[in-house]
This record gives sequence, structure tokens and C-alpha cells, in this order.
Amino acid sequence: MRIAMIGTGYVGLVSGACFAEFGLDVTCVDKDQRKIDMLLEGRIPIYEPGLDVLVERHKREGRLHFTTELREAVQNSDAVFIAVGTPTRRGDGHADLTYVFAAAEEIADSLVEPIVVVTKSTVPVGTGRKLEAIFKARRPDLEVHVASNPEFLREGSAIEDFLHPDRVVCGVESEKARDVLSQCYRPLNLGETPILFTALETAELIKYATNSFLATKITFINEITDL
Ligand SMILES: NC(=O)c1ccc[n+]([C@@H]2O[C@H](COP(=O)([O-])OP(=O)(O)OC[C@H]3O[C@@H](n4cnc5c(N)ncnc54)[C@H](O)[C@@H]3O)[C@@H](O)[C@H]2O)c1
Repeated sequence: MRIAMIGTGYVGLVSGACFAEFGLDVTCVDKDQRKIDMLLEGRIPIYEPGLDVLVERHKREGRLHFTTELREAVQNSDAVFIAVGTPTRRGDGHADLTYVFAAAEEIADSLVEPIVVVTKSTVPVGTGRKLEAIFKARRPDLEVHVASNPEFLREGSAIEDFLHPDRVVCGVESEKARDVLSQCYRPLNLGETPILFTALETAELIKYATNSFLATKITFINEITDL
């Protein structure tokens, strides 16, 4: 199976390399020409233990590609993952979804056949429905299956977290999306890792609930330390 990863930052690069490890053919796309040039030259833009070895191996074996050409990558893929940034908006603290919506519009304008589009970026509940509306408005001629697959990796142990997660959460609304995500995570599926299929909004909520719970635990132990 071939996938495109839109956004080759922390999450996009680690996920792309790990999906290649699962046996998929992955094209990582980024707008940042410098980042893509570095990766093409064999240099890794971030420090993450083990990532250089993984990227080098899958690049050499032809399973991992890097480009700035979103259109071509999308047209050659069975599924597209959105892993662009969602920075905190100044003023109101909301997630800034500008990059997510811009990526979705670019994907929509590049499509030539039905596809599954998966958000890996952390997005507020309801974002998947907004993406569905974007695809419906821009490409009424095509079936686009929007899914949510939030990422739980931690910087510093990102590869281990991705390859050996406690669980994988997939918010899907169609058999097609469920099928494609099952195939993406097949090696985990064959092992003991639970792959939880939920509704779109549930998957989005699980990510926020998990982040809040982690923040609560850290705040709690900081308070205890002070005491
Ligand atoms: N970093 C983490 O530990 C972590 C963990 C879990 C979830 N997340 C979530 O994952 C998402 C990505 O985070 P990150 O840390 O990887 O961000 P990042 O800033 O490291 O990377 C985002 C990349 O997307 C690229 N980009 C933006 N718009 C693009 C477009 N239209 N086409 C192609 N490339 C585009 C940027 O150039 C950048 O390289 C965020 O929603 C974040 O909250 C991050």
C-alpha cells in the first residue's frame, strides 16, 4: 500500500519512517524545501534516537521518499495522512487549524480518484466533519473518506512509542477507511496491540482526553513535590 504523509515534522517524519518499517511505501511531503533537501541528502532535521538508521534503511530500500510535490504524492497514494502543525493561537489559546485546512484544500485539488484522508495532527472535536465539508465542496465528484488517527508518541521515545503502542485509535465513518487503516497497522494488528475503531469525533476526543489526563498527572506530581 502507498501512503502520502503531508507534513514532515516530528510526527510526520517519525510516522512516515515507522509506516515504512511496517512495509508500506511512504512519501513524506513538506513545504519546507530546506527540510526536504536535508532528508534527501541523508541528514535528519530533528534529533530522535534511532530515526537516522530507520530513515536511511527505508530510503535505501526504496520504501521512503521525500518531496515538496504534494500533488504527485497524493495522486500516487491509496491514503493520505495530514501531520501538519496545529500551534496554539495567540490570544484565545485555541488550536490554529490554518495549516490543516490549507493542506486539505491542496489535497482536494490534487485528487483524481476516491481516497482516504486521515488526520494525524491533534485537532479539536468536529475538525474531521469540517474536513468532510471541504472535500464535499471542492470535490463533489469524488468520494473522500475522512478518518482520524491521533498520534500519542513522545519526543525522545517516538519510534518505540509508534512501533509498540498501548493501542491505536482510529476514528472512521466507512468500511473503506476502516479497511485502509487496518492495512496500515497490519503488523500491530497481527500482534497484541488493540486497534480501536471509533466514530470520528470519539477519536478526536480521546486524544484531548489523554493529553488532559497526562497534564493532570504532571500537575499533581509537581504539587506533591512542592509539598
Ligand atoms: N511533536 C509531538 O510530540 C507530537 C505528538 C503527538 C501529536 N502531535 C501533533 O502532531 C501535529 C504535528 O506536530 P509536529 O510536532 O510534527 O509539527 P512540526 O511543526 O514539527 O511539523 C509540521 C510540518 O508540517 C509542514 N507543513 C505545514 N503545512 C504544510 C502543507 N500544506 N504541506 C506540506 N507540509 C506542510 C511544516 O513545514 C512542518 O515541517 C500537531 O498537531 C501536534 O500537536 C505532536
